Amino acid sequence: MNMSTNLNKSSSTILGVGSYLPSRVVDNSELSKRVETSDEWITSRTGIKERRVAEKNEATSDLAVKASQKALDDAGISPEDIDLIVVATITPDMAFPSTACLLQHKLGIPKVASFDIEAACSGFLYALDIADGMLSSGRYKCALVVGAEKLSSIMDWEDRTTCVLFGDGAGAAVISSSGEGPQLIGFNSGADGSNPKLLHQPAGGSLEPASMESLENRGHFLKMNGREIFKSAVRVMGSAARELLAENGFSNKDIDHVIPHQANARIVESLSQRLEIPLDKFFCNLDKYGNTSAASIPVAFDEARKASIFKKGELGLFVAFGAGLTWSAVLARF
Ligand code: UT7
Repeated sequence: MNMSTNLNKSSSTILGVGSYLPSRVVDNSELSKRVETSDEWITSRTGIKERRVAEKNEATSDLAVKASQKALDDAGISPEDIDLIVVATITPDMAFPSTACLLQHKLGIPKVASFDIEAACSGFLYALDIADGMLSSGRYKCALVVGAEKLSSIMDWEDRTTCVLFGDGAGAAVISSSGEGPQLIGFNSGADGSNPKLLHQPAGGSLEPASMESLENRGHFLKMNGREIFKSAVRVMGSAARELLAENGFSNKDIDHVIPHQANARIVESLSQRLEIPLDKFFCNLDKYGNTSAASIPVAFDEARKASIFKKGELGLFVAFGAGLTWSAVLARF
């Protein structure tokens, strides 16, 4: 695969981080009552023990509001200080308007540029990359960057090969061109659209609009070739991370912490081997939340920060892959 992608340098500061997980816990034993599966299978193949599921009347923007409010509080700033909102999601409240616009209104943020991006599980890192570029232009000063998903709304709860893997949640960061905090120092985002059906939601778009037939075919649910995604995930995350390190003059030995996309403990183990970075440097919370797509990295980052695992001056690597295929790696100096 040609990994020639968008490598660049950055100087934005992370002023604050926040996350929100719905309160309803669905553990493996509850799922094993719905589909033919077991706690033993799910745990040994994925490392996931439980996931969170939002209430029926709770939309992605509601999860995003709660995570964003915490990020604003953590940053010690008010909604008036935000002049850009970027939301990464594959489960927007509706096709349009964007979830970012809904968030802008719900949070009482001034009428600033607000839009969604869609890069699946790489979405939050893509959104950071985009927001950082916009801050670098000098035309924006302080961005709210959010990864939020209500994946339970596109799960086929009769398909054991997917419904055991995913969960709902939201994470947010406030980044600025000035101020104190972890510095974003490099990005490497890329995509390969040659095999879109590896992981997709076939119906509901312009190719296959909603119809009685699309409903009968369960086309509005997420479909995935898990085995192929697994192999690609390890390969593209490994390449993206290695390229980014080399571009910025670092080696794998310089990395103190890795915050990987939280999809599967076996993917994280394989990535650790491929990058030759010890597994104990990888932060994982997928046992509690499963794969929350665009929310996965900011939720993990928020938990890791709260657990005080980062020391000032340490080097962190964020790395994700997702439907597309997309991938993204980001370096930060804590
Ligand atoms: O953010 C990107 C999102 N996607 C991913 O990260 C997915 C990446 N892929 C994976 O994590 C793994 O491939 C899975 C967890 C999805 C599957 O693990 P695997 O070790 O690749 O299993 P498999 O697909 O090769 O399936 C092995 C067997 C199959 O049975 P047969 O054909 O060997 O008889 C499946 O039907 O396991 C069966 N199976 C299950 N059994 C019990 C699949 N799902 C389940 C289940 N419970 N939930």
